[in-house]
Amino acid sequence: MTARVALMDGGRRACVTWPDGVSREVAARWLFDHGDEARDPVSGQRGHGALSLYGPCAIESAGIEGQALGARFSSGAWRHIGLARLREASTPPPISLWPAPDPIAQAPPVRFDDYLGDDQALREVLSRVARWGLAVLDGAGADPDAVERAVARFGFIRETNYGRTFDVRIEPQPGNLAYTDQALDLHTDNPYRDPVPTLQLLHAIIADGAGGETLFADGFAHAEALRREAPGAFEVLSRTPARFTFAAKDGSRWSCETPVLHLDATGALEAVRLNHRSLDLAPGEPAALEAWYDAYLAFYRCVHAPGTAYERRLATGEMVIFDNRRIVHGRRSLTIESPRWLRGCYADYDGLAATLARVELAPEAVDAG
Ligand SMILES: [Fe+2]
Repeated sequence: MTARVALMDGGRRACVTWPDGVSREVAARWLFDHGDEARDPVSGQRGHGALSLYGPCAIESAGIEGQALGARFSSGAWRHIGLARLREASTPPPISLWPAPDPIAQAPPVRFDDYLGDDQALREVLSRVARWGLAVLDGAGADPDAVERAVARFGFIRETNYGRTFDVRIEPQPGNLAYTDQALDLHTDNPYRDPVPTLQLLHAIIADGAGGETLFADGFAHAEALRREAPGAFEVLSRTPARFTFAAKDGSRWSCETPVLHLDATGALEAVRLNHRSLDLAPGEPAALEAWYDAYLAFYRCVHAPGTAYERRLATGEMVIFDNRRIVHGRRSLTIESPRWLRGCYADYDGLAATLARVELAPEAVDAG
């Protein structure tokens, strides 16, 4: 038994129903604009401009042809589109919130060599970042170029004011508190950049002695908890622009005005920006600022609640890839007697998503470089 199609509303919509009961309605204009015949056969890009969509658009007849929906329009044009494409259109993104660290703590790290050379391991790592916002690898040794090799597997480094890569270790005259021995509250990096770096990688090159444990928490899980339990605070943090600023030692001043909780057009969380070291509010109206601080502290306390963070003392050769729009990270204090050198870099999330789509579609077709 195969899918069936019915026309509705005078041909302005078609409804496809599969044998398992799943159904999708598609607009005639969408089908005209997205069918196979609308695409250039070589590049795959849409061959017509949007002005060709002007005017009435109705399907005259439609049927299932193999694994595709075929439709003949009143203009005489034909369009075909794969049934799998129609069905996948409403698949939700594979995000799994973790208000507590159990799923992360229970997932064994992926070996770095496997990640570099095996498509299944690559897919596992990228899937974890997409689903949980974070993946841990081990076995990368002390190779200072490991983060660059890791990014080359799925995309491109995002160079920033900290360079192509950056080294997190104690410096005598640090321009950023990350380069000291002090503990760091949970935060996202570079909220003063526009656009903000979307992915971050950290690789432990030297990690001797005690201290310096790294902490991660799911900012989206805590923001959703805030939305449920304190909707007024969520509203304030998602609708009020805050400002973050970083004044570099060379005099440059990086600044961005953005809400702490950034929502997309549907109201879903798109990014969390949380970094008290670089918060830079204008004096503003006192009552509004008081309300903002109340909301901010409610979220800050939620993020820092005991037992919610995933804590890992990164050993030499361990590497973490995480979504800087979702995952907040921090660390416990270091000591000068316990040398610790992490090399980090930023990368673009869309490269990860593009590569994940490729390996999920045809894992055997992905090159190992
Ligand atoms: Fe950081």
